[in-house]
Amino acid sequence: MTTAIIDRTGATPLNDAPAPMIDPFGRAVTYLRVSVTDRCDFRCTYCMAENMTFLPKKDLLTLEELNRLCSAFIAKGVRKLRLTGGEPLVRKNVMFLVRELGKHVHDGRLDELTLTTNGSQLARHAAELADCGVRRINVSLDTLDPEKFKSITRWGELGKVLEGIGAAQAAGIHVKINAVALKDFNDQEIPDMMRWAHGRGMDLTLIETMPMGEIDEDRTDHYLPLSEMRARLAEQFTLSDNAYKTGGPARYLTVAETGGRLGLITPMTHNFCESCNRVRLTCTGTLYMCLGQNDAADLRAPLRISDDDAYLSTVIDEAISRKPKGHDFIIDRTSNKPAVARHMSVTGG
Ligand code: 5AD
Ligand code: SF4
Repeated sequence: MTTAIIDRTGATPLNDAPAPMIDPFGRAVTYLRVSVTDRCDFRCTYCMAENMTFLPKKDLLTLEELNRLCSAFIAKGVRKLRLTGGEPLVRKNVMFLVRELGKHVHDGRLDELTLTTNGSQLARHAAELADCGVRRINVSLDTLDPEKFKSITRWGELGKVLEGIGAAQAAGIHVKINAVALKDFNDQEIPDMMRWAHGRGMDLTLIETMPMGEIDEDRTDHYLPLSEMRARLAEQFTLSDNAYKTGGPARYLTVAETGGRLGLITPMTHNFCESCNRVRLTCTGTLYMCLGQNDAADLRAPLRISDDDAYLSTVIDEAISRKPKGHDFIIDRTSNKPAVARHMSVTGG
């Protein structure tokens, strides 16, 4: 269904933007996050076990299929698309997909094509990303200390990430830094990270650890409620609420001393599900209607059944009609079991 406004004089559509998909709670679904691979060249301790089992390669959608699926969502009113992983830039030939999707940015059907990356491969892709229409990216970075960086990512190298960030900025891409706030790991360092990010024109967003997937350690050991972090920062900085929105779940604060913005993503302490506008697609064509719930819809079979998108479109509508009200994460010392069994890398952070 479209809401085309027809120009009677020339019979050309002035506005052929499709009507957005609406879920049972009246929320418009305009944001698609796509995990193009569940693999990663890091093994962050809060995200993965060192010895991970990944989805079988044979189950992966091809990049052409992912492009077709994404385009079907754009035709159904999605305006913002984020590629995630795992690490999206480790997927072979991923720039083909970025270039194809970038065409929707250039022709105005997509407001934003963006990426969440660990930055390890960014230096060699930055210029091309910008050329494809990527204007903003999120880089996940939890510490600026090279030794600590090694210990949290197990396999990562800080220098490469910093080089990637520099290359992205040089290519004109706005970079936002995302850091998972971890008690007794980076909590002392957050003020320095904030000064560093803000000093370079980057926002910094802090994220609470979510109980997703089995890892090698106990998440409760490092869980840090951001309400506590905010109170600690307020002792040193003048923080004021800011109405800035990026279409994601972060709430922003302005930091008077740095002139920059600090984002807070609080899935644990403050549930933001009432304004949820997104769904998540995995690299095997499974659609998750909520990050924190297990219900999902298979889009691979309907995609492969026909070259025509009509049936696929019906299956997507049916899935959206099942979008749940929200998640209910708890970090609970007594159970020590993740709220959802799949890792963040399957549905994308
Ligand atoms: N809780 C919160 N954030 C997580 N990430 C990965 N696993 C978790 C988790 N369990 C974050 C990464 C990155 C993004 C992809 O998701 O740090 O910012
Ligand atoms: Fe990879 Fe990101 Fe998970 Fe770290 S948090 S292991 S960089 S997917």
